[in-house]
Amino acid sequence: MKTAIITGASSGLGREFVRQVGDVFPEIEQYWLIARRADRLEELAAALPDKTVACLPLDLCDTMSFMAIQQKLAEEQPEVALLVNNAGCGYLGNIGEMETAAQTRMIDLNLRALTAITNMTVPYMVSGSRILNVSSIASFCPNPRMTVYSASKAYVSAFTIGAAEELREKGITVTAVCPGPMRTEFLDLGNIIGNSKMFETLPYCDQVQVAGGALRAARAGRTIYTPRLFYKFYRVLAKLTPVKLMVKFAKT
Ligand SMILES: NC(=O)c1ccc[n+]([C@@H]2O[C@H](COP(=O)([O-])OP(=O)(O)OC[C@H]3O[C@@H](n4cnc5c(N)ncnc54)[C@H](OP(=O)(O)O)[C@@H]3O)[C@@H](O)[C@H]2O)c1
Repeated sequence: MKTAIITGASSGLGREFVRQVGDVFPEIEQYWLIARRADRLEELAAALPDKTVACLPLDLCDTMSFMAIQQKLAEEQPEVALLVNNAGCGYLGNIGEMETAAQTRMIDLNLRALTAITNMTVPYMVSGSRILNVSSIASFCPNPRMTVYSASKAYVSAFTIGAAEELREKGITVTAVCPGPMRTEFLDLGNIIGNSKMFETLPYCDQVQVAGGALRAARAGRTIYTPRLFYKFYRVLAKLTPVKLMVKFAKT
């Protein structure tokens, strides 16, 4: 059965991916929704009566969750037409002053889980399958006070470009979406609201539009998709400017 696997489906951008995936990939019959909050996933599933939906309440920072996904893939042998690696977190704080557990959680979720799930899922993909990774404008230049987060998203974008080249011969495309700030739970959880001049100044992206644009970019097989002209310009600027100069203006 043609299947979409969407991580971080319980809120924010992930929930929008679930709501809109049928518009862009109408041929997909089954969704696997992954996040920790089962009640949120069940609520979403109830709103999709014409699809087969499996809710997988898993903590992707726990490596046991990878075994659960691997086992479900082996048992059900789905054709994974779309993988959306969306689950992510980002905490504001200075190195040496914030909780170590918060720092390592960003690495576990944003890098390790994304890498593991991609690796486990590719064997169930065919030519025409798509991978969509959620990166960020933070991947364009290191952001002091969110150094670990921006480095984690630099990994996501670099992984995407490498994987796109590697999987090209299999006919599998890999896309990274790089949104600017969005008004989701991410801001509260990351201690960002009220604590960052940068986040107060930057133009916001709308997660409904970002999800639709990213799904269409994945369908088209684009490698990097940056919503909003302002951030497309920022991406070019960050490419052209020496990073040691750029980083002085990129503090969050
Ligand atoms: N909001 C922004 O300003 C912004 C900007 C650029 C990029 N992004 C990226 O966009 C993506 C989505 O974030 P969002 O803004 O939609 O934030 P969000 O509303 O906080 O959503 C994060 C999602 O990840 C899930 N998640 C968190 N920890 C998890 C864990 N340990 N195991 C499994 N799932 C987990 C959450 O579900 P549970 O809590 O139920 O587990 C939730 O569904 C992230 O990759 C983020 O880095 C966000």
